[in-house]
Formats: sequence, structure tokens, C-alpha cells
Amino acid sequence: MRSWDLCWRQPAAARCWAEQLPRLWTVFDLPGAGVIELAGITKHHGPVRALGGVDLVVQPGSLYGLLGPNGAGKTTLLRILCTLLAPDAGQVHINGIDALNDPRAARGCLGYVAQEVAIDKILSGRELLTLQGDLHHLPRQRLEARIGSLTELLGMGDWLDRRCGSYSGGMRRRLDLATALLHHPPLLILDEPTAGLDLDSRAIVWEVLRRLRGEGTTILLSSHYLEEVDALADRLAILDNGEVIAEGSPAALKERLGGDRLTLRLREFSEAHEAERAASLLRDISGVKQVVLNRAQGNSLNLVISDAAVVSAVRERLTDLSLPVFSLTQSRPSLDDVYLQATGRTLTDAELAVASRRDLSAERKAAMR
Ligand SMILES: Nc1ncnc2c1ncn2[C@@H]1O[C@H](COP(=O)(O)OP(=O)(O)O)[C@@H](O)[C@H]1O
Ligand SMILES: [Mg+2]
Repeated sequence: MRSWDLCWRQPAAARCWAEQLPRLWTVFDLPGAGVIELAGITKHHGPVRALGGVDLVVQPGSLYGLLGPNGAGKTTLLRILCTLLAPDAGQVHINGIDALNDPRAARGCLGYVAQEVAIDKILSGRELLTLQGDLHHLPRQRLEARIGSLTELLGMGDWLDRRCGSYSGGMRRRLDLATALLHHPPLLILDEPTAGLDLDSRAIVWEVLRRLRGEGTTILLSSHYLEEVDALADRLAILDNGEVIAEGSPAALKERLGGDRLTLRLREFSEAHEAERAASLLRDISGVKQVVLNRAQGNSLNLVISDAAVVSAVRERLTDLSLPVFSLTQSRPSLDDVYLQATGRTLTDAELAVASRRDLSAERKAAMR
């Protein structure tokens, strides 16, 4: 489903009203009234429980991150929000509209950039954007000006008049972002907008999102990139196995954990059994609160320590046990530590564990039905 499908056949009056929303919203911006309010959302795909009772509030004008590994339920949640999928239970309010009872009105308030980008290969970017603008009934002159300013903002240059079939992944994503923004939606929802993108495209997407937030657009984006959510989000929810396991600003979540982190690599690439043995020997040092094996990084060990003084105790124990030390580094808590504390594994390990188990083409087919 493409972003422009959401506005298909929407009555012109409602569309005009929706276009005024960015301005109206500042007038009606009441503290505590979320642009998005989700309560008790559950969803199963056949026997698979994708969401197990999610509550979420996104405040106007904020950039909210939904962070979670592959299979956490991010896409399912965003598709429910965009009214493309019905939940088994729960309530969805967008701009105060009950989206389950009045999906058409809710759709008028949002732009959606889906995870899977399916762009017509024959049309040029300009043709596709013009078609999209016509679906929104935007007056031709305003539409042309909007296409010009959006594609300049997104650094599309000459590509605008080339066939979409020749676009790179990054260029396709930029075009999809432009289509979602044509009608000035007050709420922009993006599903993993930078997954697999080159660095230039990613930098542009980040820049555009920051600018939109600065102009008052509310943004909800899902990501499995810790650094993306850390860099962009005012607040975030960490979704794991269909449940919100942590919620707050990046700084507050890290602060709540307290203590320092130690990353120990016995060798550049250690054997799992050697790292596991070391982990069990380090766990009983006073002041070591948690030791987790990080398989994705050469079986390194992540230690949560109560204070900096514990570092020398760890060094002494390693020497006493004659264990090799390739590196030992100390750091402040990161978002990965927030995830690790809640689940006992790193986000990268969770990502790798699921990737091979999913049948994405079967899921895609089911989603098209
Ligand atoms: N159409 C589908 N049919 C069956 N299972 C699905 C379908 N869509 C998603 N799932 C399953 O639901 C869970 C959540 O998937 P999804 O919402 O796509 O997570 P994420 O976007 O975080 O990777 C996963 O276990 C996934 O395999
Ligand atoms: Mg997804």
C-alpha cells in the first residue's frame, strides 16, 4: 500500500479541512492531548501474537521513535495507526478522531511512508508526484510549487524527470517521502525510513525530519537503528515481542539505568565457551550488576557496574584468572544498554536471531490480501 492510497476518494471538503490542520493545530494544541493515542492494542497474525496490549501517546510537534528489533511488531503497529490493518482489540485516536470508527477522517491527517516501497517504474518522479497531488485535488499551480520545493529539500535534482525504475533505493525513499508530504500532513508516520540507505540519503532524510519537526509536524518513526532514534527522537518506546518494555526520552531512559558499562573482549573474536566461562567468573565480583554475552561482537562481554571503582576489581580478577584481554573499555549507558537491561540481550543479537526465521514473502502476500 502506498502513501497516496490513503487519500483515495476522500471528499474535497474534508481534504481542504485536513490541509488547514497544521495551522489549526497550533490553536488547539492542548497540553496532554496526544496527536496519537493508542490504548490496549492487541493483534494476532494467525497464530502469531504481533502486539500484546500496546499503549502509546505522542505529543504534538514531537518526533517520537519506535525502537525494536526485527519482528518486534513495529510495522503491525504503524499499519494499525494508518488504518490499513484492524487491531483485535484496543483504541486508536488520531488528532482526537476515533480512527477505528472514522478511518477516512483519520487518514486525512497523516502521511505514511511504508517500509516496503513499491513505486511505478514507468512514470518519472514528477509524473508520480503530480498523480499523487491530483488525488489530493491540489490546485495545479500550488502542486507544481510544492513539488519544486519538496524535491529541492530532498536533493532530488535531475532525478525528478527520470523514470522511477532507474532510481537507487535512496532516491526511491526520497520520492516516497515527497509523496507523503505533498498535502502538508500534520502527522508523518515512517516505517524504518533509512533501513539499508546509503549515508548521503540517510543524512538527507534525517535533515528533512528535523526541519519538519522544527516547523511543527508531529513525526512517528520506527527504526531498529539505535543511533537513529538516539539522534532524532524527543521520546521513544522500545518495543519487544509486541510489548512496550521502556518509554521516555533517550536521556531519561539512559539516566534511569545509572552505573557505567564495561565492554570486555578476551580476544578479537572469542570462542563462546571461553566467554561464557569468563562471564560466570566475573558475575560474583562485588559491584558487577549484570554480565551479558554479545555474540554479534565477537562474543564480547557487556558488564553493568555500580561505579568506576569496580573497574580495577575486574582487572585484578582477570589477571588472577590468567584470562587474556584484547580490550576493556568503559562507557556511559547507551540505548542498547536500556534494551539489554530489559531483555538480557543486545538489540543486534535480537535482530540476528529473528532475521532467518521470518518468511517475509509470505507475510507480504498476506498483507496484500
Ligand atoms: N502478514 C503476516 N502473516 C503472519 N505473520 C506476520 C505477518 N506480518 C507480521 N507477522 C509476524 O508478526 C510479528 C511482528 O511483525 P512486524 O510487525 O512486521 O514486526 P517488525 O516491523 O518490528 O519487524 C513477527 O513475528 C512477524 O513474523
Ligand atoms: Mg517492520
